[in-house]
Amino acid sequence: MRAYEIHEFGIDKLKLVDLETPVAAPGQVLVKFHAASLNYRDVMVVSGTYNPRMKMPAIPLSDGAGEVVSVGEGVAKWQLGDRVMPLFAQQWYDGESSEEKRKTSLGAGPQWQGVLREFGTFDQESVVRIPAHLSYEQAATLPCAALTAWNALQVSGRVRAGETVLTLGTGGVSVFALQFAKMAGARVIATSGSDAKLAKLQELGADDTINYRTREDWDKAVLELTERRGVDHVIEVGGAGTLARSITSVRIAGHVAMIGALTGAAGFDPITVFMKAIKLQGIFVGSRAMMEDMLRAVVENKLIPVVDRIFGFDEAAKALTYMSSGAHFGKVVIKIGE
Ligand SMILES: NC(=O)c1ccc[n+]([C@@H]2O[C@H](COP(=O)([O-])OP(=O)(O)OC[C@H]3O[C@@H](n4cnc5c(N)ncnc54)[C@H](OP(=O)(O)O)[C@@H]3O)[C@@H](O)[C@H]2O)c1
Repeated sequence: MRAYEIHEFGIDKLKLVDLETPVAAPGQVLVKFHAASLNYRDVMVVSGTYNPRMKMPAIPLSDGAGEVVSVGEGVAKWQLGDRVMPLFAQQWYDGESSEEKRKTSLGAGPQWQGVLREFGTFDQESVVRIPAHLSYEQAATLPCAALTAWNALQVSGRVRAGETVLTLGTGGVSVFALQFAKMAGARVIATSGSDAKLAKLQELGADDTINYRTREDWDKAVLELTERRGVDHVIEVGGAGTLARSITSVRIAGHVAMIGALTGAAGFDPITVFMKAIKLQGIFVGSRAMMEDMLRAVVENKLIPVVDRIFGFDEAAKALTYMSSGAHFGKVVIKIGE
């Protein structure tokens, strides 16, 4: 089978290799991948900023979608032809995260090889069913970005109809957060550095939009839009460059879901955090139980993920470069196989 491996860091160093097609062991399924999606994490993994000490060779990417093409002994849960996605954290089934569960995340080292390959074997408990209304390309966007947004809003945030959610930028996590917030009946204020992307956010249902480049004090704009009360939830993906303004934007006793560090790791003012008695909650993707809850909502609401662009398998490096440019809106996908 064809696969991409990291032998040394750098997008241009990614190596297309020919590997033995794996065989399903007892309790495992063999998945033939049809699509994979990119997360910002993948750019970091491949360039060496995620874990500079990562062991190699390692197959990158955590999010894939495919079909079951063979099953190992004792597999009762799945049949040939079933459309499935591997979990981001292969052994986080329910409950809180832990060091052991977190370490089972795909695509960041040889122990849990990623999905940028034609076939992979997975424990029968570590894959979930793809909603029938979604293509492989659409489904491949769900395991990390969508689940993170779901965890932030529904699990950590317990978002309710009528609340206000602030999303930052138009990457994978933020666009899913907008979709889930609207699904829950919330009002959404969304930011972007591009007016063209703001127009797309409005098409997706954003109630108010702010260009954070032309309105550098976008936190003030958020307060103006909320009669100075602030928002109930912030989907904080920016880190150092955005956290202080996110904290200004949230209401007293509101919720900031700390998800990303697109602008670097943050130093911030703790005084505002306790004076406003806000909840700063770190989010790490999510469990299978959260994924199953999310998939029920996706099915019930016929949610369609926003796929910006689909690259061919031979264009993996091009896809990663495109992702790192930040030009995309929503998700970037790689098609696998014919
Ligand atoms: N904790 C977790 O479990 C978890 C899970 C998934 C992702 N993450 C993290 O969350 C972050 C987002 O991930 P992603 O995959 O959604 O990223 P992505 O798709 O690469 O997001 C890129 C977008 O972020 C926006 N952006 C960049 N700088 C910004 C700024 N200063 N202010 C506001 N928006 C800005 C830009 O949107 P515009 O072009 O519209 O301005 C850009 O297009 C990353 O740091 C990632 O590592 C964490």
